[in-house]
This record gives sequence, C-alpha cells and structure tokens, in this order.
Amino acid sequence: MRWRTVTRWTPVALLAVMVGAAWNVQPAAQETDENPYTSRIDTRMGRRLFQEQCSTCHGLNAAGGNEATGPDLTTGSFRHASSDAGLYRVIRDGVPGTSMIGVGADAQEQTLWQLVTYLRSREAANAVVDLAGSPAGGQQIFNGKGDCARCHMVNGQGQRLGPDLSYVGNRRNPDELQSDLTNPDAEVNPRWWTMKVSGPNGQQVEGLRMDEDTFTFRIMDADENLRSFSKYGDWSYERVKTSTMPSAEGSLTATERDDLVAYLFSLRRDR
Ligand code: HEC
Ligand code: HEC
Repeated sequence: MRWRTVTRWTPVALLAVMVGAAWNVQPAAQETDENPYTSRIDTRMGRRLFQEQCSTCHGLNAAGGNEATGPDLTTGSFRHASSDAGLYRVIRDGVPGTSMIGVGADAQEQTLWQLVTYLRSREAANAVVDLAGSPAGGQQIFNGKGDCARCHMVNGQGQRLGPDLSYVGNRRNPDELQSDLTNPDAEVNPRWWTMKVSGPNGQQVEGLRMDEDTFTFRIMDADENLRSFSKYGDWSYERVKTSTMPSAEGSLTATERDDLVAYLFSLRRDR
C-alpha cells in the first residue's frame, strides 16, 4: 500500500536531509549552546516556573520527593544530562517511559533556559564549598559592627527594612552573597524600592514603598511606621529604585566580608 511505502521511506529521506544539513552547515549546534539567560532575574523567573510546573514532583526547592515522584535535582549530577544543553533537552523532551513528561517543543527557549539557570543555582547552593570566612565571626559582625540587623531579620531577630535572611543560604550562593554585600544596587526587586515624599512646607519623609495604586501609596519609614499618601494631594513624591542597603565595600574589610558570607551561607533550611 502506498502509505506504507511513504512511512517507511520518510525517516530515511529525513535522515539524508539531516546528514546533508549537518555536513553543509555547522555541527550539532545544541551541544555547544551556552545559556544566554543567567541573570538574577532569570534565576527568579526560573524558580517561579519551577514552583508552578515542577515542584509537585521535585519538591518546592528542587530537592526532590523520592525516586518515584521526582529525584533530587540539586546534587550537581544528572543521570540524563551532563551539560546545560543536555539539561535543556531533558526539560523540553522529558525522560521517555517515565512520569517526567517535559514541557514540550512549543515551550519558549527563554523559559527552558531559565529553568536550567534555576537548577544550576540550586546545585551551586548545595555544593560542598570551602569558604575562607568563619560563620561565628560573621554572626558577630552581622549583629555588631556591620549593623545588618537594623534592616534584616534572621530567625525572628532584627528588623524588616530588608529581606528576611533566615534561609538566604538556600537562595544565594557565596559569590552572589559577596556581590550582595558590595554591590547592593545591582538588581533591586521593586519590593525594595523607596519613596521620597516632600510636603508643602518642606517636610521630607522617606520609606520603603509598601504598596501603590493609581491614587495612593503607602510607605514604611525607618522606625517601621506605615504612612499613607494621596498621589493627588499637595505632597510630591519620587520613586527611588536603588537599594537602601549601604555597600560594605568601604566599611568592612575583605576578611570581615568573608566571615559574613560564611555566616549567611550557613543560614539554610535543612532538607
Ligand atoms: C509528574 C512528575 C514530574 C514533573 C511534573 C516533573 N518531573 Fe522531572 N522528573 C520526574 C521523574 C520521575 C524523573 C526521573 C526520570 C528517570 O527515571 O530518570 C524526572 C527527571 C528529571 C530530570 C533529569 C534528572 C537526571 O538525573 O537526569 C530533570 C532535569 C527534571 N526532571 C526536571 C524537571 C523540570 C524542570 C520540571 C518542570 C518543568 C519537571 N522535571 C517536572 C518527574 C517529574
Ligand atoms: C538600611 C537597611 C539595610 C542594611 C543596614 C543592610 N541591608 Fe542588606 N538589604 C537591604 C535591602 C533593602 C535589600 C534588598 C534590596 C537589594 O537587593 O539590595 C538588602 C539585600 C541584602 C541581601 C540579598 C538578600 C536576597 O535575598 O537577595 C543580603 C545577603 C544582605 N542584604 C545582607 C546584608 C548584610 C550582611 C548587612 C550588614 C553588613 C546588610 N545587608 C545591611 C537593606 C539593608
């Protein structure tokens, strides 16, 4: 029958085309593909996608349920992939014959790479690393000279003018923590933007932007007081998108920063 002939020959013909193409063009582009989406925002996007689409099987932080539901993806070694491009393919195509379906060939390239970026960040966070600093020394600096508790909470102690750092070691690796300390303005989540408000008689109020809609906004000042303002009153306001966190570059020595990183990296939730 005619259709049989067609189905038997098509793969061969396809193969010939592919071989021809590979011969004429570049060799297997996928293998050498580098991930173009590796910023902190991409990690965050990847985490969100992961929590929506993958966490039911692989656990909220990719550390896995068990082999049946979905393995731990934070160990740094994968059975089905050794490179970023390999991971990309597993996430897209799944693992045949298992409940790992894959997101499918229709998925956006960016989405797939962001998932790869997120998985790489998780594995870096769990790598056994030899850090120069001392966690105990870092803890003292955190609560003393570094004045970090003025803005950050760790296990219920401290203030809320910056992110809670109780589990910061689960989401930031040591290199990222170093740059958090010395370059706080690099990527500031809108959650941590501030508002500068000026009144008609020269009053100045400044605080974290807590919420904002078309007509009003609310800020929290340095004493954690909440204040609401109308956007159409006689007070003017200005958004500030830099971090309120001072850089530790000048105020702390490199040794002190290493200690802080060792301390922060030790702040993690046991799996
Ligand atoms: C229905 C459950 C399920 C969902 C949902 C799921 N996975 Fe999986 N995943 C599995 C299972 C089971 C395996 C192990 C397959 C095997 O036997 O090798 C696996 C394997 C993997 C592997 C390969 C691990 C290795 O060692 O090579 C990666 C990477 C992975 N999953 C990523 C993801 C990502 C990213 C998502 C979300 C887009 C996702 N998975 C969604 C169940 C799931
Ligand atoms: C005046 C308030 C303030 C002080 C003091 C401060 N921080 Fe921050 N910190 C913030 C804010 C706000 C952010 C979030 C915006 C950003 O990314 O910089 C932040 C972010 C961070 C982050 C990144 C957290 C994450 O989840 O991404 C780390 C780590 C950090 N701070 C550590 C420290 C340490 C250690 C000190 C003391 C040396 C310190 N901070 C002092 C306000 C502060």
